Amino acid sequence: MKLVFATHNKNKFKEVRQLLPTSIQLVSLTDIGCYDEIPETGKTLEANAQIKVDFITKNYGLACFADDTGLIVDALNGEPGVYSARYAGDQKSAEDNMNKLLLELKHKNNRSAKFQTVIALNLNHKTIFFNGIVKGVITTEKQGEKGFGYDPIFIPLGYNKTFAELPLAIKNKISHRGKAIEQLVAHLKVLINT
Ligand code: IMP
Repeated sequence: MKLVFATHNKNKFKEVRQLLPTSIQLVSLTDIGCYDEIPETGKTLEANAQIKVDFITKNYGLACFADDTGLIVDALNGEPGVYSARYAGDQKSAEDNMNKLLLELKHKNNRSAKFQTVIALNLNHKTIFFNGIVKGVITTEKQGEKGFGYDPIFIPLGYNKTFAELPLAIKNKISHRGKAIEQLVAHLKVLINT
């Protein structure tokens, strides 16, 4: 079965490829030559993931899955949420986004937050969603060099280090994306064996 993972991100692709049965021919947006800027205009993570998979299925006629992630901060009524990538502007700078978030939380006692990943899968004319969440707290300053995005300011529940300080293997195991991918892989394995 040929399946598109709607990403150009090589690390994300590699991570998922390793988890899927070899009978699935996984291809990326780069592999199918799709360089269109797919507009992420949805107001929810589900809507954005759906927009991406529908774009690929409609234009390329292929089964596809796509992920969309947001950081949801309790004291900010769920912001930046679906706007996490562009929180500090269209330049999509992780540094600017983290600086803005730390400033917004400067005088807040409640530092609770969660990462959420939604995966939409378009297969056999149906869309199915998978959801992964990791709860944690936002630090008062950046800590660690690993990872990407908001990793240096997010400490997952039960740990005392940020995602940017923890080994990648641990992050992948407990993360929002890791959990959503785990469900996707389990679903695909059942389909292949039935
Ligand atoms: P995307 O949907 O994967 O593009 O993620 C949206 C935004 O959320 C990104 O621009 C990142 O800033 C942030 N983000 C997504 N996943 C993670 C993560 O695992 N750690 C830190 N930030 C993340």
